[in-house]
Amino acid sequence: MTRSLDMMQDIERVLVTEEELHRRIREMGAQLTAEYAGKNPLVVGILRGVVPFYAEMALAIRTPCQWDFLSVSSYAGTESTGTLTFRKDLDIDIRDRHVLILEDILDSGRTLKYIRELLLERGPASLKICTLLDKPSGRTVELEVDYTCFTIPGAFVVGYGLDYDDYYRNLPFVGVLKPSVYEK
Ligand code: PRP
Repeated sequence: MTRSLDMMQDIERVLVTEEELHRRIREMGAQLTAEYAGKNPLVVGILRGVVPFYAEMALAIRTPCQWDFLSVSSYAGTESTGTLTFRKDLDIDIRDRHVLILEDILDSGRTLKYIRELLLERGPASLKICTLLDKPSGRTVELEVDYTCFTIPGAFVVGYGLDYDDYYRNLPFVGVLKPSVYEK
């Protein structure tokens, strides 16, 4: 399918601006720096939607830490399929480590619940989760996260890493996708 050069025409409204993203991530980074001082945490990113958030947040955490990534996918189009495909495991052993998971969005909760249970079995010293976005209206499983940058309403959002059909990830803000884009 040919994509329009102007991605903005597919956006209904901007939900979180670039400035709001940068300000909130700096603020959360300072909180996490204090929380993890002296703990040498392992900062785990859940690929792929987390990439911009991870890059900005990981630089805002100003205490010695290590980075690792795992990859799980659950979406097809705008719907979470409920079937998780495990694509890449961590490279680093997390036993007795303080693990901080970074994720772009908590929607149904299935992805993070699955990952949380998987990693807890490996015996970390602690395991906490920080998400850029939380969409409480999407929740189908019970899951509490430790840190959330923004709570958003029940719309399909793209940008700053979040995709539809793997596009729109490079929008520098979080916006609501026009339903006409996915109802075609
Ligand atoms: C998205 C997002 C989260 C998950 C959240 O990933 O990055 O990992 O869905 O949804 P849930 O709370 O309903 O499980 P996706 O499967 O689209 O993969 P991606 O990160 O590669 O875009």
